[in-house]
Order: sequence, then C-alpha cells, then structure tokens
Amino acid sequence: MSKTYYLTTPIYYVNDVPHIGNAYTTIIADITARYHRLKGDKVHFLTGTDENATKVAAAAAEKGMDPQDFVDKLAAAFQDVWASLDITNDDFIRTTQPRHKDVVTAIFKRLMDQGDIYKGSYTGHYCVPCETFYADSELADGKCPECGREVTEVEEENYYFKLSAYGDRLLKYIEDNPEFLQPEAKKNEVVSFIKQGLRDVSITRANNGWGIEVPGDSSKVIYVWFDALINYISAIGYLSDEKRFNEIWPADLQLMGKDIFVRFHSTFWPAMLMALDLPLPKTLFSHGFWTINGEKISKSKGNAISPAKLAEDLAAESGASREVCLDAVRYFLAREMTLGMDGDFSIKIFRNRFNSDLANDLGNLLNRTLSMLGKYFEGVMPDYETFGGGLADKIAETKDLAEKYCDSYEFTKALEAVWNMIGAANKYVNDMQPWVLAKEGKNAELGGVLESALEVARAAAIMIKPFMPATAKEIAAQLAITDFDNLLWSNITDADPFAKGTKLNEPAPIFPRLPKQKKEEAEPKPKKEKKAKVPEKKPLIPYDVFAQLELRIAEVKQAEKVEGADKLLRLIISLGDEERQIVAGIAKYYEPEALVGKKIVLLANLEPAVIRGVESNGMLLAADGVNGAVVLTPADPDTPAGAYIK
Ligand code: MSP
Repeated sequence: MSKTYYLTTPIYYVNDVPHIGNAYTTIIADITARYHRLKGDKVHFLTGTDENATKVAAAAAEKGMDPQDFVDKLAAAFQDVWASLDITNDDFIRTTQPRHKDVVTAIFKRLMDQGDIYKGSYTGHYCVPCETFYADSELADGKCPECGREVTEVEEENYYFKLSAYGDRLLKYIEDNPEFLQPEAKKNEVVSFIKQGLRDVSITRANNGWGIEVPGDSSKVIYVWFDALINYISAIGYLSDEKRFNEIWPADLQLMGKDIFVRFHSTFWPAMLMALDLPLPKTLFSHGFWTINGEKISKSKGNAISPAKLAEDLAAESGASREVCLDAVRYFLAREMTLGMDGDFSIKIFRNRFNSDLANDLGNLLNRTLSMLGKYFEGVMPDYETFGGGLADKIAETKDLAEKYCDSYEFTKALEAVWNMIGAANKYVNDMQPWVLAKEGKNAELGGVLESALEVARAAAIMIKPFMPATAKEIAAQLAITDFDNLLWSNITDADPFAKGTKLNEPAPIFPRLPKQKKEEAEPKPKKEKKAKVPEKKPLIPYDVFAQLELRIAEVKQAEKVEGADKLLRLIISLGDEERQIVAGIAKYYEPEALVGKKIVLLANLEPAVIRGVESNGMLLAADGVNGAVVLTPADPDTPAGAYIK
C-alpha cells in the first residue's frame, strides 16, 4: 500500500469562532482530502485548535471564564462549525490534550539534551496578538511589523532554540526540493528572509498559569509557536506510536495563510524537524487572504461572514437545499481565488457565479438533457450508440487536465477545465438541435446526442465531487447512478456508463436562479404605460433620438415557457459580462430549446417591465415573418455577446 496522503491546516486560535477566512483554509484542505480519496489514496486530514496562547488566556479572562472551560467551549464550537460545513477531517488535535503536551515536553527535553535548546537572557519586544518576539531592528516605527499594534518590552531569562545553526541547511534543502515551498513568490520571500541571517528564537516565557510548563523549570512555559507546530507530529503518534507515525509522516501538504508562512512554517518548523532528524513535509503551501468588499476581515468592522450562515441565507432565499448552497460557497471559494493569491469576496459576484456557472451552465446541461430524455424517450436510456461530437475525447482530456491541476493545487484551473467541458456539451446540444432531430424522427441520432450529453453530466458529477459533494450526489441521483459513492476518479472515462434501458429520473433544478439583489429589486419600477397603437408609418426622427437606443447582441442561455401564458417565453440572456432575464412573446413560433445558444438583437435600455409576474429587462427584436415572428439574429453569428449595434 502506498503511503498515506497526509495533509494539515493550521491549528486555529480559539479566541473566536471561525469566519470565512479560516474556513477557507479548512475548505481547501477538505477539497484536497476528498480529491485524494476519490483517487483511491489513503488520506489522513488533520485540523485542530491552538489553545495554549497568551491571548487565549487573555480572552478567557475578559469573559471572566476559567481558561480551560473557555477553550473547551470554543474547541467544541470549532468542531461544530467544521461538522456543519461537512469537513471530513480524520482527527482534531487540541494542544491542551495530554497526547500533545507529553510530546512537546519530551521534544523540549531532547533538544535541550542535544544542545539545540540553551538557556540565555533576552531583551526584546513581544506582540501579544501575533504571539511573536521582535528585535529592535525588526519593529516598524516602534510597533509590530506584522499587525502594527503596540509591542511589550520583555527582559527575561529564557530558553532559546538554535535557529541560527540551520540557515545554510534550510537554504540548501529549499534549493534541492523545488516542490517544498509554494507558491514560487513566497519561496523567494523565505529565501531572502533566511539569507538576512537567522536569530536564535526565545521559546519560553514567564509562567502566568497558562501553557505547557518547561520541564524542570516551572517558572516558565513553552512559547506557543514551538508548542503549536509540534501538533502536526504529536497527533499522528510521534514518540507514542512509531508504526503509525511512520505510515503517515512526512506530510504531503501543509496548508496555511501567508501570515504564518515565512517565519513560522518555512523556517522555524523545518529547522525543528531537522533538529529532530525527521524528514520535512513534501509541500508547504501559502495561500492568500480574503478581503470582504475590499476590506480586511475584522471583528471590529463586524464584516466577518460565516460560510454556514451564507449558505443558510441562500437556501432560504432560493429554495435550494442547505447542502447545495454550502457547495456553492465551496465552489466560489475554490473557483474565485487562485490558491496563493489574495481575493475579494462580494455577495454580488458570488450571486453572479451562482446564476451563471451553477444554475445556467451546470444546471442547464442536466435539466435540458434529462427533460428531453423524458420527452422523447420516456426517461429511458435509448439503445443507440453515442454519436460523439468529440465529447468522449473532451471527457478524457478534461479528466487528465483537471487531475494535473488538482495535483498541483491549481483548483481554479481544474474547475475552469470542468466548466469548459460543460460548455462544450451545452454547445453540442445546441448545434445538434435534438428538437429538430425529434421532429424529423431521427431517433438514432437523437438518442446518441442525449446520451453523449448525459455522459458529460456524469463525468462532471465525478469531477466536482471533491468541490461540491452534495451537488454531485444529487446529479448522480437524477442520473440514476446507483454506485456513485464507490466511483473513483478513474471511473470518469468508463466506456458506455449508462446501461441501455435504464430509467433515469425526472430533472429537478438543483440551483434555482437567484433574482437580482434585493437592493436593486427594492428600487421602485417605473410604471408601464399603455402601449399606443403603432402608426402605419412612423415620423422621421433626429439622429440623437436613435442614439438613445442601446441595441446589443445577446446570447440566449436558457429558455422556457412562462406558466399560464401561451405566447410568452422567459429567456436568460448573456451580454458577455452580465446576464439578464427577458420575456418575449414568441412562444407560438419557437420551441424554447431552439433558442438556447442563439444570438439575438436586444433593445438593452428599455425600461424594465413585469409581464405576467415575470420581470423583463430588455426586449428581443423580432420581425414579422411569413409564418409569424422571426427573431432577429446578427448576420455574423460570431459577433460576441454584449457587442453594441451602432
Ligand atoms: N494558531 C496559529 C497557527 C498555528 S499552526 C501551527 C494561527 N491561528 S489563527 O487562528 O490566527 O489562524 C490563522 C489562519 O487562518 C491563517 O494562516 C489562514 O490560514 C486563516 N485565515 C485567517 N484569516 C484569513 C483571511 N482573511 N483569508 C484567508 N485565510 C485567513 O495563526
């Protein structure tokens, strides 16, 4: 059996419950863990809480609580939050647990015995919120260089870790192991940090009644970072279960935010491991920070978003299940911000992605193919060969591409590849016009087209499983895939995955489209005036009247009949960077499916109107044809959606 794939998140300070920032680290780690399980790897996924910090004790004191009661309460809250987000961690370590404390004490003793820890006297500055010591030269205007807050002068006799002895070895290791520190830009930062020269680190502080006592010196407790980093090995049996430890260590991925990458995880931690003669983790990955509407996430600003609350609000508004809405949050976090870069969270962009990527692209592929299967074949997989349209190749190619990107932690690109495949299938259906094939009685081709598109939906369900587990399950249920839980990544390219004669299920929209944001909705809509009778011939108008018309090319993304109105179709159209809903009175002349993928001409600045209870934001232009209305389309079908007609 191959080695266990071991991945870790930082252990979080328990001074507050998690927000979308630290949830991001845990969600990305969860996606990675689920991806490796899907590949058939044995996985060990660790997260936990950092409980011995001074600021934790201070937060407890502020609440008038005993520190142990306080950390018990918050550690439980963290576990509840991760459970409510369906995080699949295999273990949860708390640094107040004896299994951890014992290992920290033993390591301290060993490093003391071998001379890597020595006693000395220290004068410097300590930043309590960052739990970090700084020398005079490191301060920024006398304040903490990391958070800008006041620092406390400390003058103490302390124990030191001989970090200075490891600089050259670290530099050589980094150079010899290109995968060790990622992304590249951060690696370069670490290299310059080490090249400036490493100082020995004070790893103890005065004992104020909270923390792990220094063995043989109860006047001191062990510095929280020295203590916390050890969680990655204490949790998996270091010094207590060597067999288990050797099966799991070294870690394959240690993921953390950029705030704790350079100094702690890429310098101090590997030096500690070198001192213990342990192999170093394969990859330490630094990810960026989320801001919210351009602002730093902070308790005082009150802008911290809880991912669970976000999902619950979305579920209440859209009618989709809470699990599916949680998937939408996971999808957004993985898709929107390249791992390693910073990103900004805005509800508006989140809602746009929900509508365009999930409701339209993914939802539409499943819905339209299943409904056509229902309409033309009573929902039963027909006994026809797939005709392709290159979709089988597209599935195989996307499988390889998405795998390559997931293996290198490029989740944004992996999802882009999957969505590109979904787009290709939607386009194939548009191009093949199954409704025309049905009219012409070409059942073999029709069956082939639907089967090809359904195979893409199945492939997509497996590929998105690590990112959106509940959605994947729901798609699989609609596709009547009974052994979905057991399918592996390698099953994506199974030949002929749908048994002929299988009855698939009725489509049910997984992601109902979200209306425009409430704020905009709340704006009073101008009252529609009664239409004047159109005169036979219109009077001449000056150019500037024409110039007031915003005529644009749009692409139809979705089309359906408006319930209870036999003339009306509800269309979702794309203007390139924006999607809209319009209502058009052409239901008598067009099958809704025939319009999807078509480019149309739109009067884009017509004031909005509510027609039969459906909001219309623009007007499709049509001409009187021989048999009724003919939708105007651009002469050149390659005209991009959004183009202005001038
Ligand atoms: N306890 C230490 C880690 C010890 S690991 C041996 C710690 N804890 S923390 O609670 O402050 O969590 C820090 C981590 O939360 C960051 O490294 C990052 O992973 C995550 N994030 C906190 N805010 C964040 C954002 N705004 N955006 C993205 N991630 C953020 O440091």
